[in-house]
Amino acid sequence: VLRPASLTTFTDEEQMLRDTVKRFAADIVAPKVREMDENESMDPSIIQGLFDQGLMGIETSPDQGGAGCSFTSAIIAIEELAKVDPSVSVLCDVHNTLVNTVLRKYGSKEQQEKWLPQLSESKLGSFCLSETSSGSDAFALKTRAVKDGNNYILNGSKMWITNSYEAEIFLIFANIDPSKGYKGITCFIATKEMGIKIAKKEQKLGIRASSTCTLDFDDLKIPEENIIGGEGKGYKIAIEILNEGRIGIAAQMLGLAQGAFDKSVPYTYQRQQFGQPIGTFQGMAFQIAQAAIDIESARLLTYNAARLKEEGKSFTKEAAMAKYWSSVVAQRVAGSAIEWAGGVGFTRETGIEKFWRDSKIGAIYEGTSNIQLQTIAKFIQKEYS
Ligand code: CAA
Ligand code: FAD
Repeated sequence: VLRPASLTTFTDEEQMLRDTVKRFAADIVAPKVREMDENESMDPSIIQGLFDQGLMGIETSPDQGGAGCSFTSAIIAIEELAKVDPSVSVLCDVHNTLVNTVLRKYGSKEQQEKWLPQLSESKLGSFCLSETSSGSDAFALKTRAVKDGNNYILNGSKMWITNSYEAEIFLIFANIDPSKGYKGITCFIATKEMGIKIAKKEQKLGIRASSTCTLDFDDLKIPEENIIGGEGKGYKIAIEILNEGRIGIAAQMLGLAQGAFDKSVPYTYQRQQFGQPIGTFQGMAFQIAQAAIDIESARLLTYNAARLKEEGKSFTKEAAMAKYWSSVVAQRVAGSAIEWAGGVGFTRETGIEKFWRDSKIGAIYEGTSNIQLQTIAKFIQKEYS
């Protein structure tokens, strides 16, 4: 197994968290991975296990039920889970880096006290931004919120919502005044019991155990105290949280690449052809070495972005770079890992092909690869013109 990159040093606490997640992933997640992929569903015992291990409020303060760990710890957890199952990884990622973080950063004291303990202890969260006609162009969303006394009434629908099949708490972005364009976008917190309907559960190429649903809101009544960060602040909340969240997806793709590498490389030293282990042919050995460089570069970009964020420095460009590059590396390494194992790698039995199917999503969600390039390009233009 590759050692952590030389430039990224971890605290004892972070190292302990890595060991805990590694054990959880090996003992609890690994035996269920294939079955969950085949059944396209998340085993409820895994979600419960994540809560029991304290992994669903990683950065939340202990007095609000969380573990009070660093942002880098959350990134470590996502990486370790993805080495075994990228679906479990994204469940934990969305819950922590998107849902909990919105509340930690923008929630009032009362909102934090009400929602963060539930999210740390037992209730899964979803982040509902995308719609049928607004994916990359997220701020063109059409879900409408209209004030009615002390409530807002929401109408519209959301598409592609991760965790939403199992979730009980939902952050919903809706426009309270379309005449203001994206400056009308407002963030609401809602519960399933308020009347959120699942209209469709998607069947996907990869991360099949992670639920992705379309949600309908028909006169969904949300009390005004459930607005987070103030009216019209939703667009800024969404994108600032996504800037951070993208480091989480970079970690998911990094873990995925490492997981595929770890499954396939040992096989190349066991399998003999032409009287020698296939991994010792130069044609194979050099591919393996190049994949190790790819993984190391993705690791450096990912943890560099995480540390910059943690130190309060500008990190948006670096996060976009990390997400873009880790997604490239994940696809490349997972594809090679199949080839290194030959026919065996192509079967569902080894789980190597699953990493490749799962890798494809890295270039799509939390901003497509083109959106990351656009973000990076805007920074370069600002820096050089
Ligand atoms: N960081 C901070 N602010 C940003 C920003 C960034 N990266 N990008 C844009 N903004 C701000 C601008 O400063 C501007 O705000 P002000 O008017 O206050 O100055 C405002 O956003 C609009 O800017 P633009 O006109 O440049 O933006 P746009 O409308 O062309 O696109 C965007 C903005 C929607 C954020 C787009 O760049 C983007 O990122 N699209 C992808 C959406 C996305 O990531 N969706 C993920 C959904 S959640 C998910 O996918 C979870 C999961 O799967 C696991
Ligand atoms: P489009 O925006 O239609 O993009 C299609 C293609 O056009 C892409 O290649 C894109 O790069 C390109 N393109 C678009 N605009 C430009 C441009 N300006 N310049 C160059 N190229 C461009 N959303 C949520 O809110 N919450 C979630 O939990 C969530 N989970 C998801 C889980 C899954 C499995 C999937 C598939 C999606 C999820 N999403 C979620 C939505 C996700 O963020 C969007 O799919 C993504 O932002 C892309 O939007 P789109 O699918 O509409 O593609």
